[in-house]
Amino acid sequence: MIETISGDCLTCLDNIDYGKFDLTFLDPPFNQGKEYRNHKDNLPESVYWEWMKDVCRKILELSSDGAALYFLQREKNTGEVLRIIKETGWTLQNLVIWKKNTSAIPGMYRFGKHYQIIAFATKGSRPRVFHWLRIDPPLPNAYRFQRKDGVYLTDVWDDIRELTSGYFAGDEALRAENGERIHKQQSPIHLLLRILLSSTNPGDLVLDPFAGTGTTSVVAQQLQRRSVGIEIDEENVIAKKERIEDFRKSDDILRYADYYAYTPEIENIWGQQPKRSKLYQGRSQLHLSCTGS
Ligand SMILES: C[S@@+](CC[C@H](N)C(=O)[O-])C[C@H]1O[C@@H](n2cnc3c(N)ncnc32)[C@H](O)[C@@H]1O
Repeated sequence: MIETISGDCLTCLDNIDYGKFDLTFLDPPFNQGKEYRNHKDNLPESVYWEWMKDVCRKILELSSDGAALYFLQREKNTGEVLRIIKETGWTLQNLVIWKKNTSAIPGMYRFGKHYQIIAFATKGSRPRVFHWLRIDPPLPNAYRFQRKDGVYLTDVWDDIRELTSGYFAGDEALRAENGERIHKQQSPIHLLLRILLSSTNPGDLVLDPFAGTGTTSVVAQQLQRRSVGIEIDEENVIAKKERIEDFRKSDDILRYADYYAYTPEIENIWGQQPKRSKLYQGRSQLHLSCTGS
């Protein structure tokens, strides 16, 4: 199931009933004066944070026990995010540092800013699902021996590149016919893959109240999770629908299967047997069953 709803998320959340959400990816506008077609990204600070508080409170109400919230924000807003999580009744599990593999934002009187935060919180003190993923990044220079089976994921994520503007956004970025990006804040597929693998099982229900171009749903569909995405901008809603109907190779999560192949029981978490592919020959056959269709 993939539901795409057009409208304001708070209004829509008051009027929908798909059952309780098991995970929410919260990637709102950051109130930093970016261009949005249907949203003013320069609200007074107090208005903006009251809005975020209402959204977090509403999501908690609509979530299952132990459900996960991943709240993405600028690093300078860490204090407000932690306050809101606490005041709305969520339990903080991790403050993830997402070092985005792009240039730092320079500063004249402080260190350059090189990361965003993702607050991972749950409804209640224990997550209903948490898969501690093992990843297989390149060996750091000082290491003498190859690892046998990857490393456990920590709360510092420095291996997922943001889709920056221009050339480096790569072929994952959705583009209009004139080559312009359709949505400059489009999230990377790999970010959502990691979040959904960590905190959901196949069949779970995932919410994205600021769905944009539908990255969450595109990943959820491939992992056999159900998803609901709400988006206020009709052009983004159309882009999301087209993206789901007309599947692009650049949205394929299978290219990351090897990277997570050392995670215990990854076949069950992934939710499907990865298709036979060159990617899965050799080492990964030990970890991912490649006998499916
Ligand atoms: C940071 S972007 C999310 C991008 C998304 N993660 C993706 O991969 O495309 C925030 C989105 O929230 C949408 N938005 C702004 N106000 C909204 C509201 N009140 N309700 C629902 N969506 C809203 C914007 O149009 C924008 O697409």
